[in-house]
Amino acid sequence: MDAAPDRLAMLGVWPSMSDQIVHHGPGAETPRRDFLLLMTGALGGIGLISALWPFVDTLEPAADTIAAGAPVDIDLAPVKPGQQIIVKWRGRPIFVVRRTPDQLKMLQDKADTSLLRDANSTEFQQPTYAKNWHRSVNPEFLILVGICTHLGCIPEFKPKGADVAGGNWPGGYFCPCHGSKYDLSGRVFAGVPAPYNLPVPPYHFTAKDKVRIGENPPNDDATYSLSDVDQI
Ligand code: FES
Repeated sequence: MDAAPDRLAMLGVWPSMSDQIVHHGPGAETPRRDFLLLMTGALGGIGLISALWPFVDTLEPAADTIAAGAPVDIDLAPVKPGQQIIVKWRGRPIFVVRRTPDQLKMLQDKADTSLLRDANSTEFQQPTYAKNWHRSVNPEFLILVGICTHLGCIPEFKPKGADVAGGNWPGGYFCPCHGSKYDLSGRVFAGVPAPYNLPVPPYHFTAKDKVRIGENPPNDDATYSLSDVDQI
């Protein structure tokens, strides 16, 4: 099921982002060269420009690794609390967020969960080892496939207080194409076009601050892969 990346390729946006990593949030930087890359993407896909962020190329996986669809190793140590980075795996943007204690508390608050379509992740959008309220292995780190489950746009990372939904935004993701919203566990809000939570890719930690995306944990009984997931 590689339809979503193909749609992005047709729009001329994702290829200009290839092999790049995106940082967003506290401490993010915007090198000029990377800004030019961003503008190149804009020429090919004005409709999705609001879904893009400035690029940096530290932590960049090797191009042949990406092309082969192999697992990608990420160093999480530089990711600041509350910050998101984006890496590319199998042609898909992968969102990685270091969540703060306040953000984790919010995700368990009834004020958040009562507004969600699938708060308990009953739909098969994550491996069994991420089937929990934080939809992750380590609650501190959120790892998602960053493709909206409606029609495949790239949702924007919107921290708490961002101008979303007329105020009182608790933090999460907003899709600029048709307005779908997700919380900071990638759980979709009710009443928006997207039918499912954002998918969680297979992954496991190889060390305290190192994660391998694209591979289930060793000795895990699950045979989870993205081809099992709906709408991506
Ligand atoms: Fe995201 Fe339609 S593609 S809301």
